[in-house]
Amino acid sequence: MIKIRDDGLEVVWSDGKSFVFHPLWLRERSFDASNKDPATGHRVQEVAFLPLNLSIARAKLDGNDGVSIDFSDGHSCRYDFDDLRHCVDCPLPDDLVGEKVLWDASLNALPWHQYDELKSSPFHLLELLDSLATLGFALVRGMGSHENELAAFAALFGPIRETNWGRIADVKSIANGYCLSMTGRALEPHVDNPYRLPGPGYIFLHCLENSAEGGESIIVDGFNAAAKLAVHDPAAYDTLSRALVTFRYADNDAILEHHGTLIEHDVNGRLVRVRFHNRADQVVAKRPAELAAYYRARREFAELLWSDRLTVRFKLRAGETYIVDNYRILHGRTEIKLATGNRHLRQCYMDRDIVSSRQKILLRSLQ
Ligand SMILES: [Fe+2]
Repeated sequence: MIKIRDDGLEVVWSDGKSFVFHPLWLRERSFDASNKDPATGHRVQEVAFLPLNLSIARAKLDGNDGVSIDFSDGHSCRYDFDDLRHCVDCPLPDDLVGEKVLWDASLNALPWHQYDELKSSPFHLLELLDSLATLGFALVRGMGSHENELAAFAALFGPIRETNWGRIADVKSIANGYCLSMTGRALEPHVDNPYRLPGPGYIFLHCLENSAEGGESIIVDGFNAAAKLAVHDPAAYDTLSRALVTFRYADNDAILEHHGTLIEHDVNGRLVRVRFHNRADQVVAKRPAELAAYYRARREFAELLWSDRLTVRFKLRAGETYIVDNYRILHGRTEIKLATGNRHLRQCYMDRDIVSSRQKILLRSLQ
């Protein structure tokens, strides 16, 4: 049902939900070619200077699923009821499309995908992107051990995010390694590079060799840990959602700094990111009582994030790769016994919009 009111057009859907759309909102959303370029959806006219008192002159049902509107400035357009409803229910765009499924150590069926299928079929690529959307990670086998294969794999999605460390980095564990990741040390679960702006969206890690004992990959669903913290200690959850933390990396050539909360929500209150990097963080100085609450909350969160019951372990073999959502999944590894063999992986990052765009393009072309 539709009804023209003084303040706009009221639409009532069959489930009883109603919403009043402002005339200017409808006018600037118009998909008519005189308003928006059909190829890009970008407006071809300046709407900021439309009359502020623009009104709806006429509105009439157009079939069962839409309404045609004539505006007081002479513009006309048809609107689809489903599209209008989507704008009300989901006012902000999705990152990746797909309902998140939280997981813990009991996750049995790991989301493995076959490289040859990903290369030959957009349906399989879409399945992998669905794993990323729902579980926050995906595993690939059959990539071989050539050092250039990671770049070829990444190209199925889009351009690699280049950083001051280059496009692709070698992660080799060697005797006398000069940074933690090059030693055989275990690495506690963490997210990568929260000191960058934007932080790397996705991590691609390709295993060329993993012959040493140990060196298992560890992943943890940070969103599940946050959900458990919210239930079991709401005050700690609230503290970590508010306390600003700085992250920093500095060497001779680069000073990288950024900030954020360990648990982050969007304006609609949806959990959108966890940051946990226990080497580069420094909470903003506050009164001791406030910091006491922060340190208590961070410990609660760390205990959850590093607990066995939330951790999934697997050992990457040569030719296997994982992709993790760096805003949701923490990753780490168990200790590597360097005397027993070698471990060589190659890693790159990709921005969130690139991965999200690949999924939306595939959805549009395959549906
Ligand atoms: Fe890392």
